[in-house]
Amino acid sequence: MTSESIPPTVREVYGPADLSSIPAFAGGFINFGHWDGIALDRPLTEADRVHSQQQLYRHTLAALTPPGADAARTAAARSGARVLEVGCGLGPGCALAVEEFGFAEVTGMDIHPQQLERAARRNRALLAARPGRLRFREGAAERMPFADGWFDGVYSVEAAQHFRDLGAFAGEAARVLRPGGRLVVACFFPPDDRPGAAGRLARMLDSFASGLDVAHPVGAFTGALGDAGLRGVRAESIGDRVWPGWDRWLATAGYTGTWSRNFLTAYREGLLDYYRVIAEAPAGEG
Ligand SMILES: C[S@@+](CC[C@H](N)C(=O)[O-])C[C@H]1O[C@@H](n2cnc3c(N)ncnc32)[C@H](O)[C@@H]1O
Repeated sequence: MTSESIPPTVREVYGPADLSSIPAFAGGFINFGHWDGIALDRPLTEADRVHSQQQLYRHTLAALTPPGADAARTAAARSGARVLEVGCGLGPGCALAVEEFGFAEVTGMDIHPQQLERAARRNRALLAARPGRLRFREGAAERMPFADGWFDGVYSVEAAQHFRDLGAFAGEAARVLRPGGRLVVACFFPPDDRPGAAGRLARMLDSFASGLDVAHPVGAFTGALGDAGLRGVRAESIGDRVWPGWDRWLATAGYTGTWSRNFLTAYREGLLDYYRVIAEAPAGEG
């Protein structure tokens, strides 16, 4: 996908006035966070919100290595693994994957060239200090500029709501994963395709009305992953650890716009949920 084919809403929202420049997202991460263990019965701070966003990455990255291995084996697996983030934004999650999780090579890919310029600036020190451990690359979820089987793991945090063609993303994720590699996606999707849900979402949330976010039911996503040949596809709801905290943050930060406050309402009305979706590429012959 060339830069000319970036959907116009994505081009605009992540252009010069990138979402990360609004106070609700200040700090570099552009996601709603995972608020487990953060007390919500008090005024929240920007540090709480950034912590929640780091936790969303930790929850995602932890699932790239199979559960059950002891700490030494997990660390060894990570220290030999090449992983890809799809829709990396400013790349703070890529930095966390290198510094905290110890993945050998982390590639942050984003469709928007201006996001990648910001990512390179923001991570300049890490890029210089750890040559070869971190790189950023322009590319679309639906057409990835990588060789077949190149990555041990592919992950994505709060970017899949923008993907137009889930089948194309699933096919590309399956293609660039090595046999036995894992895919982990954290994102929001409607839980089902009940009649009228897409229209109700569009009336509640500008991001769906404008076409920035696409209302693909989670079953369409997991189905596309299975159709692409990935195995063990499972979607775990984490909405109860995302939306109440995010809404509380917006309330205490004095944010009154309907765009984000209505996410909690949509969750409570069963129109939207937040998921961690995990899948594996089939192991090779022999
Ligand atoms: C909400 S931001 C999330 C950024 C980052 N993952 C985080 O949590 O801070 C979504 C990102 O996905 C990127 N994006 C949107 N559509 C994409 C696509 N089709 N392929 C790759 N990246 C895409 C956007 O440019 C944006 O940087």
